[in-house]
Amino acid sequence: DWTPDSFIETTIAELKAKLGDDKVVLGLSGGVDSSVAAVLLHQAIGKNLHCIFVDNGLLRKDEYQSVLDSYQHMGLNIKGIDAKQRFYDALAGISDPEKKRKAIGRVFIEVFDDAAHEVQGVSWLGQGTIYPDVIESVSVKGPSATIKSHHNVGGLPDFMKLKVVEPLNTLFKDEVRRVGAALGIDPNILGRHPFPGPGLAIRILGDVTPEKVDILQQADAIYINNLRSGGVYDKVWQAGAIYLPVQSVGVMGDERTYENVICLRAVESLDGMTADWCHLPYDLLAKISNEIINNVKGINRVVYDISSKPPATIEWE
Ligand code: XMP
Repeated sequence: DWTPDSFIETTIAELKAKLGDDKVVLGLSGGVDSSVAAVLLHQAIGKNLHCIFVDNGLLRKDEYQSVLDSYQHMGLNIKGIDAKQRFYDALAGISDPEKKRKAIGRVFIEVFDDAAHEVQGVSWLGQGTIYPDVIESVSVKGPSATIKSHHNVGGLPDFMKLKVVEPLNTLFKDEVRRVGAALGIDPNILGRHPFPGPGLAIRILGDVTPEKVDILQQADAIYINNLRSGGVYDKVWQAGAIYLPVQSVGVMGDERTYENVICLRAVESLDGMTADWCHLPYDLLAKISNEIINNVKGINRVVYDISSKPPATIEWE
C-alpha cells in the first residue's frame, strides 16, 4: 500500500543507490514540487545537493527573502541569486506576452547555467517533475517549453546535458503534498497557491517596469494577506492581482486623479485546466479594495474578475 512514509523510505534508498557521491544541482522555485524534491534529495545525499534560487524580480512582495530563509532553515545547501536587473533589462519595452515569456525563459537559462557551472564536478540535474507533467508533455507552458524553444535556436545549455533525476515523477499533486507534510516541510510552502514561472510579468499587461512590479507587489500583498486573515486563502485554488495599463479618472480629497486599475482574480479549480471564479464575500472584497486604493500610490480603481475558464484563462498575460 502506498503511504507517504513508505514512499519516502524507498525513494531515499533508491536515490542513495543511484547517486552515490555524485553532485546534483536543482533550481528551486518556492513552489511545492521543487521544495519536496529538494528535501527528499537532501535527505538522500546531504550537501551534495546544490540548490539554486533565482530572484527574477517578478516574485511576490518579500517572497525571495522569506522563501530563501525557510529553505536555509530546512538545512538545504542553497544559493540565492539576485538577477532582478537582468530580467528587467531583458523585458524593457516588450509588451507581447509570448515575447515576454521567451525573454524570461532565456535569461533564466543563462542565469541558471552560470550558477550550475559554479558547482564543481556536478553530474545530475534534479527536477520537481510530477506525474501529470510527464503525461501532459502536451502542455505548452512552463520552463520545459521555454527550454525547448531555446534549444531549437541556440544549442543546449550545459546544465541540460546533465543526467536528470526526478524523484516525484510517479506522484500526483496531493501525494506530493502528503509526502511534503511527512517530511516536515512548512505548511505555508505546501499550501501555496500555484504561481506561474514568469511570475508577475504575465500579471502586468503590456510592458513591465520595476515601478509597475512594485505597485503590483503592494496590491497583491494586500489582497493575499486579506485572503489569509479572512480565512479563505486555503479555500481558493489560486488568487492574484493583475495590473492593467488602463487609466481612469478618480477623485482623492479635492483632487482629480488619473491612475491605473488593479484587477483581483480568484479561482476554484482542480488542475488549472478549467476554473470557476470564486464567490468571495462582498465585505472582504470591499476591505481589500479600500486598502489597495488608500495605500497603493498609482491605483485609484479595483475591479474583480468574474470570468470562468473556458472561455477566459486564469492568467491575463
Ligand atoms: P491559464 O492562464 O492558462 O493558466 O488558465 C493555467 C495555470 O497554469 C499556470 N501557468 C503557469 N505555470 N509556468 C508555470 O509554472 C508558466 O509559464 C505558467 N503559465 C500559466 C497559471 O498560473 C494557472 O495556474
